[in-house]
Amino acid sequence: MIEKIDAELARATQALSGARSEREVEAVRVEFLGKSGSLSGLRKGMGAVPAADRPKIGKLVTDAIARVEGLIDEAKKAVARRELEKDLHREKLDVSLPGRTHKRGHRHPVSQAFDDIVEIFARLGFHLADGPEIEWDLYNFEKLGFPPDHPARDMQDTFFIEKASQPPPPPGSPPTKGAMEQLLLRTHTSPVQIRTMIGQPPPVRIIAPGKVYRSDSDITHTPMFHQVECLHVEKGLSMAHLRGTLDAFAKAFFGPTVQTRLRPSYFPFTEPSAEVDVSHTLCDGRGCKICKYSGWLEILGSGMVNPDVLANVGYDPEQITGYAFGVGIDRLAMLRHGIDDLRALFENDTRFLEQL
Ligand code: PHE
Repeated sequence: MIEKIDAELARATQALSGARSEREVEAVRVEFLGKSGSLSGLRKGMGAVPAADRPKIGKLVTDAIARVEGLIDEAKKAVARRELEKDLHREKLDVSLPGRTHKRGHRHPVSQAFDDIVEIFARLGFHLADGPEIEWDLYNFEKLGFPPDHPARDMQDTFFIEKASQPPPPPGSPPTKGAMEQLLLRTHTSPVQIRTMIGQPPPVRIIAPGKVYRSDSDITHTPMFHQVECLHVEKGLSMAHLRGTLDAFAKAFFGPTVQTRLRPSYFPFTEPSAEVDVSHTLCDGRGCKICKYSGWLEILGSGMVNPDVLANVGYDPEQITGYAFGVGIDRLAMLRHGIDDLRALFENDTRFLEQL
């Protein structure tokens, strides 16, 4: 019996020293200490040992079992240590490798110009106004002094949409039938002038930024673009107020050295009308490809609100006057960044946008 115990102990020690994984250690445990394990068997066989030898032999078996349990624990720990070392070796970090960074995005140049313009006019005391992009002929043209066959309609290549069976909401004087029912994509932000004035008595001091649409597409035109309308109506306004506001705006947007000039023009809803140029800041007014070697860039249309328009919205043109202008936002963004193809602003090619 004693020999058997020694032999099993030696076998267990041998087997454990060769165990390389948790599974192998577990197999050894089952072989010696499991229900039908060899050491467990020796304990069960104690009945056959003469009573006089039992305490001594019993102790030897118990000690052997405890010894094997201890060895199993150690073997388990050794396996775990080896696994950890292997892991650490495999997951070695090279802290000198450059990190993986994320690309920083930024506001789209048109959105930036949009926000800047709104902020500049807010500082000058203008309120934000809004109107729909799907507009009535009545507000886009008729009330602005473009009757149905007026040749000035040709200035704006209109996307007409189906005629609505519902007439536009009431305020104002009754328009001609045709104009009342025609819907279109607004060709400019000027209809917001009409909507605002119909809805409130003077004084009015608003800006209305938004999308406008014209059937036109080439390097300086896209079918959708952005405008800001500016309208100021009050007692005693003159061309001097228009000039002053325009100049303040241009300097705030392009920088304090920029100059403005007015050129006579025509719009049915302003009288007199003027187009406004700014000196080209990128070439310091010396002349370059972008400003076609003139040193000046056209940025907007403007004028004193036509007395007929004031009468159309129920204002008294004998009492009040006003000025208005409409700026192309995309054009301002192009000029600011020296971009020469308007379409690049709407293709959303990130390789292009990242450069700005
Ligand atoms: N609405 C005109 C256009 O889009 C611009 C404009 C606005 C002109 C206000 C005069 C006054 O061409």
